[in-house]
Amino acid sequence: MTIVVGFALFTVGACSKPLPEPESVDAQLYALRCNGCHPAYQPSLMTAAMWGATIDRMVQRQLPAAGTRLGVREREMIEAYLARHARGSVRAAEPDTLGLEGAGP
Ligand code: HEC
Repeated sequence: MTIVVGFALFTVGACSKPLPEPESVDAQLYALRCNGCHPAYQPSLMTAAMWGATIDRMVQRQLPAAGTRLGVREREMIEAYLARHARGSVRAAEPDTLGLEGAGP
């Protein structure tokens, strides 16, 4: 089961388009620190709140398991970058993320 889930996630990440603002330090830090175990996922995949929870999980479980860690400042930069382009953020308002807009209450 784990293998199946892992493969599905990999497939999602592998066919993605380039990351937003690729020239920025934040984007490069994200690509560097979050690309080691799986592809760096598109920020527009999740909301800012979901990214916060996901980073928590990576920092508390996955990074220690691999014997590495994320600096406080690194985390701030990566989280801000993901939030900036997250689903529901102004700058992520691309056609593939607008579908959910009418779904809320
Ligand atoms: C040491 C390896 C490792 C690193 C480095 C790592 N991850 Fe992960 N990540 C995993 C593993 C293993 C999974 C699948 C199991 C899980 O979700 O906990 C995963 C799953 C994910 C998922 C899939 C969605 C989900 O909720 O499960 C996202 C998104 C993600 N990671 C984001 C990040 C971000 C952001 C960073 C950088 C801060 C990062 N990862 C760094 C190991 C890593």
